[in-house]
Amino acid sequence: MSTSPTDEEAWRALTAHAATMRDVHLRTLFADDPERARRLSFRLDDLLFDFSKHRVTDETMEALMALARQRDLPAWIERMFTGENINVTEGRAGLPDALRNRDNRPIRVDGKNVVPVVSAVLAKMRKFTDRVRAGEHTGHTGEAITDVVNLGIGGSDLGPLMVCEALEPYWKEGLTPHFVSNVDGAHLGRTLKGLNPATTLFIVASKSFSTEETLTNARSARSWLVEKLGSDKAVAKHFVAVSTNHDAVKEFGIDPANVFEFWDWVGGRYSLWSAIGLPIACAIGMDAFEELLLGAHRMDAHFRSAPLEENLPVIGAMLGVWYASFFGASSHAVLPYDQSLHRLPAWLQQADMESNGKRTRRDGDVVDGYVTGPIVWGEPGTNAQHSFFQLLHQGTRLVPCDLLAPLVSHYPTGDHHRKLLANLVAQAEALMIGRTEEEARAELEASGLDAEEVERLLPHKVFEGNRPSTTILFDRLDPKTLGSLLAYYEHRVFVQGVIWGLNSFDQWGVELGKVLAKRILPELSGAEEPSGHDTSTTALIRLIQAGPRSE
Ligand code: F6P
Repeated sequence: MSTSPTDEEAWRALTAHAATMRDVHLRTLFADDPERARRLSFRLDDLLFDFSKHRVTDETMEALMALARQRDLPAWIERMFTGENINVTEGRAGLPDALRNRDNRPIRVDGKNVVPVVSAVLAKMRKFTDRVRAGEHTGHTGEAITDVVNLGIGGSDLGPLMVCEALEPYWKEGLTPHFVSNVDGAHLGRTLKGLNPATTLFIVASKSFSTEETLTNARSARSWLVEKLGSDKAVAKHFVAVSTNHDAVKEFGIDPANVFEFWDWVGGRYSLWSAIGLPIACAIGMDAFEELLLGAHRMDAHFRSAPLEENLPVIGAMLGVWYASFFGASSHAVLPYDQSLHRLPAWLQQADMESNGKRTRRDGDVVDGYVTGPIVWGEPGTNAQHSFFQLLHQGTRLVPCDLLAPLVSHYPTGDHHRKLLANLVAQAEALMIGRTEEEARAELEASGLDAEEVERLLPHKVFEGNRPSTTILFDRLDPKTLGSLLAYYEHRVFVQGVIWGLNSFDQWGVELGKVLAKRILPELSGAEEPSGHDTSTTALIRLIQAGPRSE
C-alpha cells in the first residue's frame, strides 16, 4: 500500500469524478431516481441514517469504497479490534471497543486478555455507585451524597459531561452531577457556591494524573472541603480518583481503595466507556451505564462485520472524505435537534480534531496535496437556525451537516416536539433544494413589489441549494441509542484517519502550549525574569505582572 492516499488509483479516479459532479444538483439526482432516498438510507435497529442528501451517485459511492479498500480499511478495522499496537508513536493499541465488549470475546493487548480487568473495574464501579445511589456511601458527617463533582478536562470531562447532559431524564432524583474542567477559578468557584460540602463527592478524573488544570482544581476542592468540614479525614469519604497513575493518586492523598483504574491503551478522548464514566454511572445507575456500553457494542459489531457499502461509520466517513478532499470543505457541522445533546459537538470536537488534526502521516512523512481532519462545530437546532444557518444556506463555503433527532421526546409538551422535527426536516430540505431564481422571482412578484424592486432583491433571495446533509433519526435518546451514536462517530473518525494515513490515537500537538505555560507561570508571579521570548510575549508577561491599570 502506498502511504499517501493521493497515490492511490481510486484517489485519482475520485479527483476526475469530482470534476464531473461539481455542477450536478441534488434536485436533479432526486428527480432522476425515485428510489434514491430508499437506496441511500440505512437502519441499525431504531437508528436511521439517511445519506441520500449527499452529492453522490452510485459511481461516487463505488469509487469511495474502492479508495477505502485501496487504503486497506478492512485490515485496519481488524487491527483495531484485535488490539494491535496501531498507535505507533506511543507504542500502544487503540481499541475503544474493548471497554464495551459485551459478549466478552477475549481481547489481547500486548498478548494479555484485557477483558477480565475491564470487567473487574465495571464491577467495582457498580458496587461503588450502587452504594452512593442508595445513600450507603455517606460523607464525613454521615449524610448521603447529593452532588457529584467531576474534576477533569478534555477526555476526562467532555465525554461524561456530554452523556450526563444527554441522559438527564435518567438521573436519580436527589443526586446531581457537576463538571469542573477549566483552571479558571470561576468554574470551580461557581460550582461550589451552591453545594453542601457534607453531601458532595469529588471524582478526580485524569488519565495521567499530571494535568495541571485538574490537579489545581482538585487541590482547591480539597482545601474547600477540609476547611468547611474542619478535618483532613473528610478527604477519604469525599474524594475518589479515576486514573492510570496510581502513584500520583496516592501522593495526592486519595486512598488507593478509592481509585478506579483504567489503562494506557484507552485514549483520553475515547475513555467515557471506562471508569472515566463514573459520574455517568452515579447519575444514571450502572444498569443504564451498561446499556450505554451495549449500544456502543451494537455499533462496534456492525462496524466490524457489515460490508463497507452498508457500513454506517464507513459511509459517513467516506462522505466526509469526499467533501474534505475533493470539494475543499474545511468543516463539518453537527446539529442535534435535541437540547439534551447540546454538548455533542464539543465532545466530537475533541474526538475528531484531536485525532485527525494532524499534518504528519503515520509513516512520518508530511501530508502533501490533501487536507486532513475537518473543523467540527455545531449547536442544537432550532437555536442554530437563528444564528449561523445563514452561512450554511447562502455562504460561500460548503459545510456538510449532520442533523440528528429523536422521534419521541422525554419532555412531551404540547406540540413542541413536532415543531422541532418539522424544523429539522425543513432545514435538510432547504439546504438541499435551495430556491431557484424563478422561484424567488415568483415569490417576490406575488408579494406585490414593482418590477424594479423585484430585480433588485432577486439575487439576495436565491439559494443555490445542493448543500449536503445526513439526517439521523432514532426512537428516543436512551442510553443504548446514545451509545450507538457515539460509537458511530468514533469509528467515523478512525476510518478517516486510515484514509488520510494518520495515527488517530496520539495528540502531540497539545504539548507545546503546556510546556510554555509551565515556563511562563513563574515569570508571571515575578519568581523568574521573563527570558527567551519574543517582544510581544515579553510585553504581555510584563503587563500581566504589573496588574490592572485601575485599582
Ligand atoms: O491535553 C490534551 C489531553 O492530553 C487530552 O488528550 C486528554 O483527554 C486531556 O488532556 C486530559 O488528560 P488527563 O486525563 O491525563 O488529565
